[in-house]
Amino acid sequence: MTKIYSVYALMAAISLFTSQTLAKCPVASVCAIAHQGPSIGKEVVHENMTLYVTGKHSNTAVLYLTDATGIVQPENRLLADSFGRAGYLTVAPDLFNGTPAPAGRDPYNPSYNQTEFLACHNPTVIDPMIDATIRYIRNVLGISRIVASGYCFGGRHAFRVLAEGRGVSASFAAHPALLQDEDILGITGPVTMAAAENDFAMPTDQRRYIEDLLMSTTQPYSLSLYSGTEHGFGVRGNVSIPQVKFAKEEAYFQAVRWFDSWGRIAVGG
Ligand SMILES: *[C@@H]1O[C@H](CO)[C@@H](O)[C@H](O)[C@H]1NC(C)=O
Ligand SMILES: *[C@@H]1O[C@H](CO)[C@@H](O)[C@H](O)[C@H]1NC(C)=O
Ligand SMILES: *[C@@H]1O[C@H](CO)[C@@H](O)[C@H](O)[C@H]1NC(C)=O
Repeated sequence: MTKIYSVYALMAAISLFTSQTLAKCPVASVCAIAHQGPSIGKEVVHENMTLYVTGKHSNTAVLYLTDATGIVQPENRLLADSFGRAGYLTVAPDLFNGTPAPAGRDPYNPSYNQTEFLACHNPTVIDPMIDATIRYIRNVLGISRIVASGYCFGGRHAFRVLAEGRGVSASFAAHPALLQDEDILGITGPVTMAAAENDFAMPTDQRRYIEDLLMSTTQPYSLSLYSGTEHGFGVRGNVSIPQVKFAKEEAYFQAVRWFDSWGRIAVGG
């Protein structure tokens, strides 16, 4: 009798154990991500700047800093919408006053002069526009905690907004372009970066050098390198290639997890 009871007790314990360990929990649900289709946010004008705003009101907002193709690029809007579905009200400023770099994978439109474009949109022009966007999030939306997600051109600025006094708590940067040593050394909050294997804007040696700089900051950081990817994959990766689709989605989860973990903790200014 005792033996039978103990067998039943054992079976009950096993079934309890297996039902707990086999319970399926959503870990990284791709249902938050839209790669195509219509975008769902709206445009507002603040201090003469157009802002793409998407998602529901939240305690922490995502400041979405686009690549050079700007907020007219559907992939930027869709990715901003995906942050909205992750629970973050998301605001993407038009950093180029309606004239971004030409969209497309190889934007070699003869009227586009990249040297001129970058000179016109240098940090002395862009920093104040980003500061105005931060004021919009704070003063108009009433959200005081802000995290930043930046891509290519905007990736550098995702680092810059972590400088003392800029007001961002944590950042994600995908394949940042033109990133300077002082942008990295000046961070006062946690940063995570997604790097492409083949990136003309960040060759392997430079990426390794950036790792050394990250290690020399006192901030939490992480860096993920995605195989089979090129510059731009975090936004404009070709999702019909499985390895690129995975990398784009994983970089998005990398950002969301970083914001969920670090965006809620006040570190620095
Ligand atoms: C906004 O644009 C108008 C018209 O171009 C100009 O008069 C005004 O000074 C601008 N305001 C700001 C805050 O830049
Ligand atoms: C691009 O712009 C730069 C700076 O304004 C200028 O020096 C250069 O000649 C231009 N290149 C072309 C191909 O127009
Ligand atoms: C995306 O990849 C597919 C599959 O390799 C290819 O057929 C297509 O041309 C690519 N699209 C672009 C825009 O490069």
